[in-house]
Amino acid sequence: PNGLLGDTLGRPLRDLRISVTDRCNFRCSYCMPSEVFNKDYAFLPQSSLLSFEEITRLARIFVAHGVEKIRLTGGEPLLRRHLEVLIEMLAKLRTPSGKPLDITLTTNASLLAKKAQSLKDAGLQRVTVSLDALDDATFRKMNDVDFPVADVLAGIEAAQRVGLAPIKVNMVVKRGTNDNEILPMANYFRGTGSVLRFIEYMDVGASNGWRMDEVLPSAQVIERLQTEFPLRAIDANSEGETAQRWSYLDGGGEIGVISSVTQAFCASCNRARLSTEGKLFLCLFASQGHDLRALLRGNYADDQIAAAVGHIWGVRDDRYSELRAALPADSSPPGSGAKRVEMSYIGG
Ligand code: GTP
Ligand code: 5AD
Ligand code: SF4
Ligand code: SF4
Repeated sequence: PNGLLGDTLGRPLRDLRISVTDRCNFRCSYCMPSEVFNKDYAFLPQSSLLSFEEITRLARIFVAHGVEKIRLTGGEPLLRRHLEVLIEMLAKLRTPSGKPLDITLTTNASLLAKKAQSLKDAGLQRVTVSLDALDDATFRKMNDVDFPVADVLAGIEAAQRVGLAPIKVNMVVKRGTNDNEILPMANYFRGTGSVLRFIEYMDVGASNGWRMDEVLPSAQVIERLQTEFPLRAIDANSEGETAQRWSYLDGGGEIGVISSVTQAFCASCNRARLSTEGKLFLCLFASQGHDLRALLRGNYADDQIAAAVGHIWGVRDDRYSELRAALPADSSPPGSGAKRVEMSYIGG
């Protein structure tokens, strides 16, 4: 591997998102609706999860192929026991040019107040927190397990305190559910150094009952924000960034919008996803993954696995969101013959 992998659309492999558990203690309706993810839902058995050694072995192979950023996701990654040990192992990896990786984690922050210090000590650099509302009643309803918002805010403060920063805060906007929280959320995080990002509600997975009329286009989010807080668009930090950045004219920091429905960003998508059981997915909207666990547990050497990953990436042509945007709104989505994987399984 030489770090110069490109897929059929010329996209490099830079970002590996590793799901460490398919379980979560929340039941956000856009992700794990409680009617589907109930006590009868078959989560993965312990034996099928990749071990930390297996994850680290794969991560090393991906880093040799050009990956510079690793994001741990879930489900809720902090539910995975001894996650700090995995972070310590990943923090030791270096890119071919000798640089440490950007290691981050996406969490609902329910356990963050308790774990922030040990995560930092293990070598985690920053966190992204999912938070959909400040209003306690709205938040409790959206997480659907009656979890109080105060505990999430305490988690964010703890992360800030120990230096897991800059923190990003992800708010999935559902029209009619939490769009009245856009301005309060912006106001709360302005000037704190945390970057709030508004995410268009996506038709990911097969169980959230997505409807276009519940999507609030990012352009409207920006319009609403501009009424209170004048903004100007600023340049991306890096090639392939999901968010479009805007900064407050008065110096209150920046926000972002992630517009995968109204302005697909597949053209620069450099993200690969590794599921909890070791399947490699090339798109958030894929229905099938490539079984790397079989290679890990078979008698394959690292360079054989590296060659397999190189081949899989080399023939990648996924660009779901762009294809969907090109279709009439009322048509069925691209590839709708097969059931798409759930985001809780594949990782955000
Ligand atoms: P950083 O900016 O480095 O922290 O990472 P990021 O911009 O990739 O952000 P993050 O991982 O927090 O992703 C934010 C959200 O964007 C995710 O939770 C998804 O909802 C959405 N998202 C991320 N990657 C993709 C993608 O490849 N395709 C689509 N359609 N949505 C994505
Ligand atoms: N649409 C947009 N974002 C989603 N997430 C989960 N489901 C969806 C969806 N349907 C995002 C949330 C959370 C992350 C884990 O995944 O932002 O922060
Ligand atoms: Fe859990 Fe995050 Fe999905 Fe909500 S969005 S159910 S917190 S994994
Ligand atoms: Fe990447 Fe698929 Fe998202 Fe497009 S829809 S940006 S290809 S993960």
